[in-house]
Amino acid sequence: MPTTERPAVPHAGYLDRLMRRQSFQALWPLFAHATKPAKEMTESFSALVHLRPHFPSVQPFRVVHVGDGAHARTGALFALKTRAQNVSIDPELNLSLVSNWQQTYGVERFTFHRSRIEDAYDVLDSLPPMPQVVSFVHAHVDVDAVLARLDWHAAFTLACCVPGRQLTRSHLIADDGEDFGVLSDERRYQVLVNARASLREAP
Ligand SMILES: C[S@@+](CC[C@H](N)C(=O)[O-])C[C@H]1O[C@@H](n2cnc3c(N)ncnc32)[C@H](O)[C@@H]1O
Repeated sequence: MPTTERPAVPHAGYLDRLMRRQSFQALWPLFAHATKPAKEMTESFSALVHLRPHFPSVQPFRVVHVGDGAHARTGALFALKTRAQNVSIDPELNLSLVSNWQQTYGVERFTFHRSRIEDAYDVLDSLPPMPQVVSFVHAHVDVDAVLARLDWHAAFTLACCVPGRQLTRSHLIADDGEDFGVLSDERRYQVLVNARASLREAP
């Protein structure tokens, strides 16, 4: 059921959907490190639910997960549940833990960088060109400043403690509101689309 048809009270719909799938077994080791796994899982799943309709129809495409935390959980979830190439970026990323997890579960289309986004633009620029989508799941960054520097087609942002920077002041908003599937009080989101993006197939 689309989130918009749900009553405006917190619900476990995302958690139920995640837990019914085989991929839950692989996701669990990463989310189990969280103090509040249900909160983290539903935040990441909200990004997937809201971005999926905006995925480019061409393949390949990339999702850049900005501020993805020590365990790169949104990138991991997208790697398991989509065909996207995923890149997670966070200065606190636990490289050995996420590498071990990736090897254990043989997860493909997933890379991660222990870096501030501001220091990762050269790495991102050097990747093969393809349409890009961006996730900011409670990322402590200025969303508009990051999007100004990236080539992007659509973006999802979920705000927490600094909504003035985590929500856009300038981009086209395709969808916004409160997502009551997110089991956290901080559930205000926006889906942004870049009117200037072109969706040419990668060469
Ligand atoms: C509330 S946490 C988000 C956690 C993440 N969604 C998770 O599931 O663990 C905010 C994150 O933003 C990251 N962050 C802060 N400044 C950043 C920057 N300049 N570039 C990228 N990430 C940054 C922090 O390291 C932190 O992991």
